[in-house]
Amino acid sequence: MTRFILLPGLVLSLVAPTAGAQTAVTGATALHNLMPVPATVSIEAGGLPIDSRFSVAFSGYKDARLEAAAKRMVERIARQTGIPILPKSGIAVLTVKCGKAAGRVQQVIEDESYSLKVTASGATLTAPTSYGVLRGFATFVQLIEPSPAGFVATAATIEDRPRFPWRGLMIDAGRHWQPIEVIKRNLDAMAAVKLNVFHWHLSEDQGFRVESKLYPKLQELGSDGLYYTQAQVREIVRYAADRGIRVVPEFDVPGHTGAWLVGYPHLASGPGPYEIQRRWGVFDPVLDPTNEQVYVVLERLFGEMAALFPDAFFHIGGDEVNGKQWAANKKIQAFMKRRGFKTDGDLHAYFNKRLNTILKKHHKIMVGWDEILHPDLPKDIVVQSWRGQKALADAARAGYRGILSNGYYLDYMWSTERHYLVDPVGKDAEALSDQQKARILGGEATMWSEWTTPEMIDSRTWPRTAAIAERYWSPATVRDVEDMYRRLDVVSRRLDFTGVLHRTAYRPMLERMTGGRPADALEGIVNLVEPVREYNRGRGLKQTQQSPLTRVIDAARPESEQARVFARLVDGLLADPAKKANRPAIERSLREWQDDAAAVQPLLDGFLLLEAKPIVERVSGLSALALRALQAIDQGTALKLSPEDTSLLAEAAKPMAEVHLMIVPPIRKIVDAAAGR
Ligand code: ACM
Repeated sequence: MTRFILLPGLVLSLVAPTAGAQTAVTGATALHNLMPVPATVSIEAGGLPIDSRFSVAFSGYKDARLEAAAKRMVERIARQTGIPILPKSGIAVLTVKCGKAAGRVQQVIEDESYSLKVTASGATLTAPTSYGVLRGFATFVQLIEPSPAGFVATAATIEDRPRFPWRGLMIDAGRHWQPIEVIKRNLDAMAAVKLNVFHWHLSEDQGFRVESKLYPKLQELGSDGLYYTQAQVREIVRYAADRGIRVVPEFDVPGHTGAWLVGYPHLASGPGPYEIQRRWGVFDPVLDPTNEQVYVVLERLFGEMAALFPDAFFHIGGDEVNGKQWAANKKIQAFMKRRGFKTDGDLHAYFNKRLNTILKKHHKIMVGWDEILHPDLPKDIVVQSWRGQKALADAARAGYRGILSNGYYLDYMWSTERHYLVDPVGKDAEALSDQQKARILGGEATMWSEWTTPEMIDSRTWPRTAAIAERYWSPATVRDVEDMYRRLDVVSRRLDFTGVLHRTAYRPMLERMTGGRPADALEGIVNLVEPVREYNRGRGLKQTQQSPLTRVIDAARPESEQARVFARLVDGLLADPAKKANRPAIERSLREWQDDAAAVQPLLDGFLLLEAKPIVERVSGLSALALRALQAIDQGTALKLSPEDTSLLAEAAKPMAEVHLMIVPPIRKIVDAAAGR
């Protein structure tokens, strides 16, 4: 059944905090649902009523972008509250004082600060530049709460600015194609949590995704017809710029270029022919750094692409060159010997230096994954660290600017908490001087798309990315995990109003599995599982780019809210079993899971649910075992475990159908407590 177990502390707290409370908070607070938490926020009693007369007026600088942003905010408020807000129907409720225009192209360092004052009689948003206004609008929307007297914007005084200037989300459109609707709705969600860099991973072994007029075989033979036209690219760049988001394109070279080589095999380091890669992994095809033709093509192609993307930065990938084609090519080996190159890294650095010269001609700053770091490269390149935090600290120490992605891999299926606690200035960076630390520009969450289709990419990206966005924006001291989850619960629901489908795509996926039969019970079961983590997927069942991703693992959310909440309930009970705290809620959950497991049994004949049989059986068995354990605790007797019980606990802890059953650890705790272990 559809249900949410809510701890008292998780219940959405409405607008007015305890009467008269005026808390100046630098850090997490239980009194608002803001994410990211502002640099300083003081929540005050009462609020500003939001009704159909709501309107925005500009008293300082304004332009078409700001007016469009105000209009979008009003539409967003209307959707969030259900109140029809009529244009020009009233006096200004929110007054915006913007100092000056932003430059034509958004820079890596912009003043995004703003102050927001909300009282019972009106609200004022003040910002030095347009970027602060955009960020302030995002905050204002998050202040709106339902109250017994209707919707109100919580009274507050906020002074806010980001901790890091580079706050990104990468979407991989190479492995699985992601149409522009996906990109647009994700840009809207990014803006809602103040992210400001969209890193667009546009080429892979599995697809080259942008139209090139100079080298049309790239998309014609390398994309299955699934690519962005140049007009669509311009549309996305404009859409992002309207929301204060830079677009950094990535064309991954010299590895990950299998799809390029289908149309242009002479650029490879090994003999062709080449095909679009359908499997996942690291593959051999690599551009030939000793072939002058490669640089001719890259200079023209990157020139063409540089003109589409106004951002100062241009990402050339540079990751995962396995060196096999280089080792097998006598001409390349002779070239390395002549130049005195000892390692593949030296050859790669030679290639990157040539690329950097090309990018400079096109007025671009080179960004690459941490493999590009080499003493031969100039200090103005930017390193994106994916293999570890140490690479980022080393880069900063050596004088390079960097951004962190290690720890923010959304495809790893980590919990929100685990991502949230990763800091771009982590342990490895603690010893850096302030000047060196300042070279750490921020971070990027990365949505790699081996296992991600347009249907469920949002559920892999959101809401976890909202918590990561807080890490990049808020003071480093904002680290209260329970409070993060409390706010995330609210923020996640509201992200719905930005258009992302992270919550709504779930049900249709479950109904597909049941063949259209009622999916309530199945939802109850799938709510309890999480996909296997990191690179453990695909070890058993081999799936490719052409496999439909419509299994239980594909519907399952990266983090089971139900299991997380259940685990907290169990911890509460076991802290002092005699008090019986949470005892009824725990029993209710266990009985519901038993019912769900029974109700789902007749549906398991469907093709997509055949593999779910052991999961369902174990949910049923574990629930029964935990109920027996509760009874033993009640009676103060020791639970006797049969060999079947022990085997059930062991088997249920292993992945089934490539998902983890997340209620196993808390149930094991109840059982251990009952058995006196
Ligand atoms: C990467 O994950 N290969 C950047």
